[in-house]
Amino acid sequence: MPNLALIPTFLRECLVSRSLPREPEPDLVMEDAEQVAAYAEAGRINGAMAAAYLFHSAHISQVIQECRTVLDLGCGPATQLAQIAQLNPDIHFTGIDLSPNMLADARLHTEALKLHNVDFRQADITRLDAFEDHSMDAVISTMALHHLPTPEHLDRCFAEIQRVLKPGGALYLTDFGRLKSLQSVIFFAYANAHHQPHLFSLDYERSLRAAFLKEDFVALAAKYFSLEVCVQSTFKVPFLVVIKTADKPLPEAFRQRIAALRGELKPRYRRDLTDLRLFFALGGLKNDPFA
Ligand SMILES: C[S@@+](CC[C@H](N)C(=O)[O-])C[C@H]1O[C@@H](n2cnc3c(N)ncnc32)[C@H](O)[C@@H]1O
Repeated sequence: MPNLALIPTFLRECLVSRSLPREPEPDLVMEDAEQVAAYAEAGRINGAMAAAYLFHSAHISQVIQECRTVLDLGCGPATQLAQIAQLNPDIHFTGIDLSPNMLADARLHTEALKLHNVDFRQADITRLDAFEDHSMDAVISTMALHHLPTPEHLDRCFAEIQRVLKPGGALYLTDFGRLKSLQSVIFFAYANAHHQPHLFSLDYERSLRAAFLKEDFVALAAKYFSLEVCVQSTFKVPFLVVIKTADKPLPEAFRQRIAALRGELKPRYRRDLTDLRLFFALGGLKNDPFA
């Protein structure tokens, strides 16, 4: 049963004609120790991002099957990356971020999980100088692109992805899409405010205000990747956008594993996952790995 509280937001977003102006993040790189801790905590304790993490882990796994090397742009505390790496032990992952504090947290997290298939580097996602042309089987990124200050930086990031990705390589980028009304921003940012650190809610609000338009992603996907990449979003209200290459089949044991992880979610986050699956399916995203 989807979350009925979404209906007023959905209607409002359909009725308003123009998107909000973009407000770049005040802290482009997340380096403040309290902010890092709040973000990591909200993700780790079966918290506010648990449904989104599991959703993207499952969809990313479908895209990167058969890959050997995957680059994660703006990995943050690696909660998402660690879950993907645990699910795909035969793939090697490199997470990059500009924030030393985020990277320190990411290293602690992956060491605690005894993961041997992940390494980290401090690097700018718009200047992937440390990586050779066509050296990566796949590039992924979750909730990081809105941290870029301008559309020109986003363009440079896409150009760098195209450069480091092998021809025919796998791609899965996801981020917020800009909403049309401030009320909708407040609804999404504070819907779980009682269950998450205040700094996380504030960060969420700033992220939504800094989001690029779905149209920006569509234009860049066409400019750099042409037909092999599609851009999908949540139905009617492109609150979340996914830019991806084709899926490969998941082994049955893998599907059972993600079904078990879904079962372990707290009920309210299982409901969030149902919403995500429903709104992305209605938006055209195929191959629901939880079906
Ligand atoms: C909201 S976090 C997302 C973390 C993680 N991908 C996730 O899904 O939880 C965004 C991250 O992007 C990093 N970041 C921002 N601008 C960056 C840049 N130009 N290059 C590398 N990392 C950047 C921030 O430091 C932060 O850790």
